[in-house]
Amino acid sequence: MSRRQSLQALSAFLAGSPLINSQDVVRDHTRVPGLKELQNALEFEEVAFSKLARSVYNYRAYGEEGEFTLRRNRQAFDWVELIPRRINAGMVDTSIELLGTKMAFPILVSPTAAHGEMHPDGEKETHKGAAAAANTPMIVSNNSSFPFDKVAAAAESPTWVQLYPKQSLEANRQYLEGAQAAGAKAVVVTIDQQASVYERAQHDRNLVQGGGRGGPRAARAQAGNPYRVFDGRLWYEWKFFDQIRPIVKVPMLAKGVLTGADAKLCIEHGVDAIYVSNHGGRSMDYTPATLEVLPEIVDAVAGKVPVIFDSGIRRGSDILKALALGASAVCLGRAPLWGLGSFGSAGVQRVLEILQAELVEAMRETGRTNLASIDRKLVRINFP
Ligand SMILES: Cc1cc2nc3c(=O)[nH]c(=O)nc-3n(C[C@H](O)[C@H](O)[C@H](O)COP(=O)(O)O)c2cc1C
Repeated sequence: MSRRQSLQALSAFLAGSPLINSQDVVRDHTRVPGLKELQNALEFEEVAFSKLARSVYNYRAYGEEGEFTLRRNRQAFDWVELIPRRINAGMVDTSIELLGTKMAFPILVSPTAAHGEMHPDGEKETHKGAAAAANTPMIVSNNSSFPFDKVAAAAESPTWVQLYPKQSLEANRQYLEGAQAAGAKAVVVTIDQQASVYERAQHDRNLVQGGGRGGPRAARAQAGNPYRVFDGRLWYEWKFFDQIRPIVKVPMLAKGVLTGADAKLCIEHGVDAIYVSNHGGRSMDYTPATLEVLPEIVDAVAGKVPVIFDSGIRRGSDILKALALGASAVCLGRAPLWGLGSFGSAGVQRVLEILQAELVEAMRETGRTNLASIDRKLVRINFP
């Protein structure tokens, strides 16, 4: 056997060896950069990708079906230009009080499920990172790995609680009363994602033993329901807001609103703020980017209640664009998650601080020194 042939045989042996195969979940990289080397929030995703098991990364990165909306959420920010203005005096003040919660920046952490898959201390670790970044409020998911009271107690920044409505009013009561007793300063009721599928996560579920979250449609094709739709959320009715209002003593928000008509219905049913979101492209594919529908919703709401916004934000300039189109504040879903997955609470803190700093820079360059001075004149909209 020639030297060349024996090297080929050795490579084939190594390529097929179980040891190499088992490292499939470890990313192909030469060096993972350290926390201080990362310049923007987008770069944290690559580090998290390197450090996390594939199915854990995938579940967070995926969108619904063909992921048109997931991509469009980012693209929409390219269709809105900022108009620079010069020569304005004074420091930038980004502080705001939103629904009774005082904030140094108009930024909150969106509710996202199962942080325990990314870090042993799960949402407690995220909350520590958020609190370290100028006391950023955190909305704790209904599907958190740790109970609300443990997450709230882990750090000082304000916590809001998110609810996926349950058909049993009693189940909602128990959850909401417990969270409010533990200090929840607002209740966010999520009304989208009634019938979602993350196809790529479903593949992981099939391929990776014990891994890969399937999303709401994981429990599919139950007896009597041959469709891929998880039937636990098919009963939703607007009157749900009226039913839980007596239980909710703090401000109540509706999350997942994408039209002016629905925003008006929310207000009719006693909601205190509208949360514009398409679940980060995870609810229904081919819905518009949230930035595209924001002006319509702000106009329909006509200042009656605050409008908050998420889906796709990765830059301080993205935040400024959402504020210019009428949002009072924004929420961040995946960005702090990639911080958590790469460096724990220090990563969450750094991602938030980068976005805060970028917002200040963008305000400075557009001649706005406080949030009240941000208006639609600051942007030129080129939506297709
Ligand atoms: C992994 C993951 C889990 C999520 N879990 C929840 C949840 O439990 N409840 C909820 O209301 N929204 C959930 N969302 C949606 C987020 O609250 C938010 O709307 C979305 O992530 C914003 O888009 P962005 O990730 O581009 O910032 C989740 C999003 C992701 C990526």
